[in-house]
Amino acid sequence: MTDIIEIFDTTLRDGEQSPGFSMNVGEKIRLAKQLEKLNVDIIEAGFPISSKGDFESVKEIARKFRKAKIAALARTDIRDIDRAWEALKSAENPIIHIVIATSDLHLKYKLMKSRGEVLDAAVKAVKHAKAYTPFVEFSAEDATRSNVDYLCKVFQAVIDAGATIINIPDTVGYSMPDEFGSLIKNIREGVKNIDKSVISVHCHNDLGLAVANTLAAIKNGARRVECTVNGIGERAGNASLEEIVMALRTRRDFHRCDTNIHTEHIYNTSRLLTHITGIGVQPNKAIVGNNAFAHEAGIHQDGVLKERTTYEIMTPQSIGVFQSTLVLGKHSGRHAFRERLREIGYELSEENINIAFKRFKELADKKKEVFDEDIEAIIIDEILRIPDTYRLVYLNVISGSVTVPVATVQIEIEGEVIQEAGFGSGPIDAVFKTISKIAKTDCKLIRYAVNSITGGTDALGEVTVRLEEGGIQVIGQGADTDIIMASAKAFVNALNRLDYRKKHPIVI
Ligand code: KIV
Ligand code: ZN
Repeated sequence: MTDIIEIFDTTLRDGEQSPGFSMNVGEKIRLAKQLEKLNVDIIEAGFPISSKGDFESVKEIARKFRKAKIAALARTDIRDIDRAWEALKSAENPIIHIVIATSDLHLKYKLMKSRGEVLDAAVKAVKHAKAYTPFVEFSAEDATRSNVDYLCKVFQAVIDAGATIINIPDTVGYSMPDEFGSLIKNIREGVKNIDKSVISVHCHNDLGLAVANTLAAIKNGARRVECTVNGIGERAGNASLEEIVMALRTRRDFHRCDTNIHTEHIYNTSRLLTHITGIGVQPNKAIVGNNAFAHEAGIHQDGVLKERTTYEIMTPQSIGVFQSTLVLGKHSGRHAFRERLREIGYELSEENINIAFKRFKELADKKKEVFDEDIEAIIIDEILRIPDTYRLVYLNVISGSVTVPVATVQIEIEGEVIQEAGFGSGPIDAVFKTISKIAKTDCKLIRYAVNSITGGTDALGEVTVRLEEGGIQVIGQGADTDIIMASAKAFVNALNRLDYRKKHPIVI
C-alpha cells in the first residue's frame, strides 16, 4: 500500500523571510498560482502580524486560491492569532499555524518563561485559534533540542485543546536522520491522543540533512512535510520540496509513500522562483540544477545512449525539463507562439499573449534562434513582473574608447516622465548613476552579475543586481539582448522592490 504524504509548502513564509528572497504581494500570488499547478496540499502564505505586506499577501491568497489549504503563522500571543485569522478568514480551508519554542535553551534566553508557562500559553493559543477554524497546527519550535517528555506533554495538551496537526521542527538543523526518526517514533508512542492529529515535520538544512531528516521522519510515521521550492529558507534553508517529492516518487519501492505533486511542474516552479527572487540554484543542485541531467563523462554518455537507466534514475521529462529546441523564429505566427507558450507551461490571457508576442517579434528580429528559455525570459520580464513606482521609458548610452560614457534616461514615476543625463566610469555606471539621480536614491550596488540565457553572441543577457539602502537589501533582474538595457531594467526592478520594502517594513 502507498501512503500519501501531504506537502505543506512554506516557500512564501519561511522561504520568503530569508535575506534576499522577499517578494511583494503580486509576486507571491504568481508563485501561489504555480504552487497550485504543482498541486501542493497546503500553502503557507505568510506571517500576517510581521508586516502589512505579509498581511495583504495572506489575505489575497486566502481569497483567490480554493484548491490548496491556506496556512498563516502566528505566535501564541492572542493579537498574532487574531491578525492571522483576519487575513485568513475568506479561505476555503484556513489553517492557523501556532508556534512557540519548547527547548529549555529558548525558554531561558529567548522567552524567559518556565515550562509550565509555555505549556499554558500553547494551550490557550490553540483554544483561541480553534474558535476560528477547525484546522489548527501547533509547532514546537526547536523541538529537536527539547526535553522529549516535556515535548510529549505539550503535544498531548495542545491536541486536547484542539490542535489537528502537530509539527516537529528541527529549527536549527541540528538533528541526525536516525535520531530524528527515533524522535518521531517516541512522539508517536509517547503522546496518548496522537491519533487525533497529523504528524508533520519541518527540517532546516544547517548540516545539509534537511531532506534526509524529513525522509527519516516519514519512515517513522510523519504524514505531512513542510518544505520549500529550491530549498530556500532561514540560513541554509528548509528541506527542498523537489528533492523530497522525487525521492519518494523514484524510491516508492523503499518508502511505500508518494505525494499528490504533479512533478512535471517542478522545473517551471523552480525557474519561476529563481526569476522572481533573482537568486538561482547551484548548477549541481539535485533535481533542478542545470547539471542535474547533464552527462559529461564519455563513459556516462556512452552508457546513457545505449540504455538511459544506466546513469539516469529519473527522466528530465518527469520534472518538466524538455530538450531545449529551436522553436520559433521571425516568421513564426501568433498561433505557433501561443501553442509553444502552452507547451512550456504558460496559460496567458489574450492581452498578455499580445504583449509577449510583440516582445517575441522584436527579439526574433535581433536573434535568429528563439529558444524556450528566451520565451520564458520574455514572460518573466514582461508579464510576471508587476508594474511598480518606476518604469523605464527610454535609454540611450554613448560609450567607447575615447568618449566619456554618458547615459540619457527617461523614467516614468506615477504618470510623470522624468529625464536626466549623466556620466560614469563605464556605460553601466553612467546608467545606474543617472537612474539613481531620477529616483533620488543613494542606494549602494552590492552585487552585479550577468548571465547569458542561451548560447551565442545574440543571446538574451540576464542581469541580476543587489542594492542596499538604509539597511534594506533587495534584488533586481532584467533580461535583454543588450546587456546595458538588461542592466537598466534590473536596476529599475530593484528600485521598485526597495520602494515596496520601504512602504511595507517588516516590523518583527
Ligand atoms: O523553523 C521553525 O521552527 C519554524 C516554525 C515556525 C515551524 O519555521
Ligand atoms: Zn523554519
